[in-house]
Formats: sequence, structure tokens, C-alpha cells
Amino acid sequence: MKKLVLAMSTLCISVTAVLAADDPIATRKRIMDSTAAAAGLSAALMKGDIEYNPTIAKAAILTLGASAATFGDYFPEGSGEGQTTASPKIWEDADGFKAALAKFTTDTSAALEASGKDGPADLDAFKAAVGPVMSNCRSCHEAFRVQN
Ligand code: HEC
Repeated sequence: MKKLVLAMSTLCISVTAVLAADDPIATRKRIMDSTAAAAGLSAALMKGDIEYNPTIAKAAILTLGASAATFGDYFPEGSGEGQTTASPKIWEDADGFKAALAKFTTDTSAALEASGKDGPADLDAFKAAVGPVMSNCRSCHEAFRVQN
């Protein structure tokens, strides 16, 4: 019991620490890290490094969709300074950045819709669904991320 209480209070402290951090740069980087993990998983499925599994495919698409739905919320004015590779163009060309986010959302939504409840039925269906999503990484990075 003592152990459980201790574990629970440790958990509370770490949750509080995360919330108190309230750091948009760290948050958006974490979102991009999970985006990259989902993209890597998708690539492994497409190349056949992992045997095709519709549930894994669906999980990757869901993660990409969650990224598209939330990423744009973490670019408040002034968060272009610090440990970030976000380009100043995000704020200078806010409409352009919004359009890039909208395209990412459109493509992930289409992939979600095409993947059905149980995930894309086969590898070809998965490729067709997720392929257009992948083109967003490069186009947005070229326009809105400083290369380091
Ligand atoms: C709408 C624009 C946009 C799209 C789409 C996008 N990214 Fe990013 N990405 C960014 C920006 C901006 C940063 C820089 C964030 C920062 O450093 O504050 C970034 C950073 C990253 C990083 C570095 C994260 C870190 O820890 O510093 C990775 C990895 C990444 N993106 C992968 C991807 C992958 C993979 C995709 C496609 C599935 C993708 N991104 C789609 C804009 C985008």
C-alpha cells in the first residue's frame, strides 16, 4: 500500500511537471517525433520490413492524423526563438503555414477515411491511403523549417 501511494504521488509530480512546463517548442517537437515514428513504421510496412498488419497500419495513420490535428496549436508568437528549427517564415507567412497544415489535415483525414474501422485491407490499400500523407513532410519542412 505504501509503495502504491508512493508510486501514485510520483506519478502526480511527473504529470504536474509536464503541465507546468507548458513549453510549446518541446511539445511540437514531441509531436513531430511521434510523427516521424509513425512515418518510419509506415515505411517499414511499405518496404515489407514488417509483415503487413492492418492494425499496425491503422495505428500509424491515427498517429499521423493526431499530429496534423494538433501540431499547429503550438506556434504562439515569440516561440521562434530557442531550441527550435521552426523557420521565421511560419510567422511571416502565417497563411502559407496554415495552408500547409490544412493540406496535412486533408491528406490524413482522407487516409483515415480510406482505412476503415479495421485498417487498410492490404498493403496496396495502405500504400494508396498513406502515400499522399508522406509528401507533406518534405514540402512543409522545405518551406517552414530551417535546415540544421
Ligand atoms: C505543416 C508543416 C509540417 C509537416 C506537414 C511536417 N512537419 Fe515535421 N516539422 C515541422 C516544423 C516547423 C518542425 C520544427 C519544429 C521545431 O523545432 O520547433 C518540424 C520538425 C520535425 C522533426 C524534428 C523534431 C525534433 O525533435 O526536433 C521531425 C523528425 C519531423 N519534423 C518529421 C516529420 C515527418 C516524418 C513528417 C511527415 C509525416 C512531418 N515532419 C511533417 C513542420 C512540419
